[in-house]
Amino acid sequence: GPGMVIAIDGPSGSGKSSTSKGVAAARGFEYLDTGAMYRAMTWWMMHHRVDVDDAEAVAAAASRPVITMGTDPSAPTVQVDGTDVAQAIRTQEVTSSVSAVSAVPAVRERLVAMQRDTIARARRESGGIVVEGRDITTVVAPDAAVKIYLTASAEARAARRSKEVRTDDVEATKRALALRDRLDSSREDSPLTQTEDALELETSGLGLQEVIDIVVGLADEAA
Ligand code: C5P
Repeated sequence: GPGMVIAIDGPSGSGKSSTSKGVAAARGFEYLDTGAMYRAMTWWMMHHRVDVDDAEAVAAAASRPVITMGTDPSAPTVQVDGTDVAQAIRTQEVTSSVSAVSAVPAVRERLVAMQRDTIARARRESGGIVVEGRDITTVVAPDAAVKIYLTASAEARAARRSKEVRTDDVEATKRALALRDRLDSSREDSPLTQTEDALELETSGLGLQEVIDIVVGLADEAA
């Protein structure tokens, strides 16, 4: 039958990417990082000198970038107009502008359509797909077989993210995460929200492998 969809939402630094890749690898599923798509859109806007705070200008350009995602969990890729932007989309500049770009409805409309196409193709062609983001359980794939809301304390999230970006300033990281979460949770269109029907998984005291095992267990139960 058609492949399984596992939807994982949560705030920045909750461990979505590591967990999603680990679960996909464990079950031979594909993996889609939707945050990377919003980052790729943001990178393109900055590269083409579109003012990211001008929602009309962003909306007018939203159809232009050609974004291509590679969904192998052991080597996920992201390209914009044929250029590998895997590193470029992780800069401070992109990170601090992505919430403004992702709040623009025309951006979301286009990327959600692409995400649904990728999910539909993966369901036909492989065992399943793990999709991570902010609105996957609510908007992109509300019918997913497994829906998870991943959380962790602000301290745990800041500690993890500081390690990833190799900074000692955990307090500054914590402030930046809090700001991005506030913007992502308060926007009009598809805000990050925790709904009743997604299972909350609090990961502060858990190791990555433990979290992966829990989600794989839920997937096996749902299969
Ligand atoms: O997951 P990541 O931190 O890379 O996401 C970057 C940004 O992309 C988020 O802060 C949010 O503004 C946006 N995003 C979104 N909807 C998604 C995934 C990410 O709005 N499904």
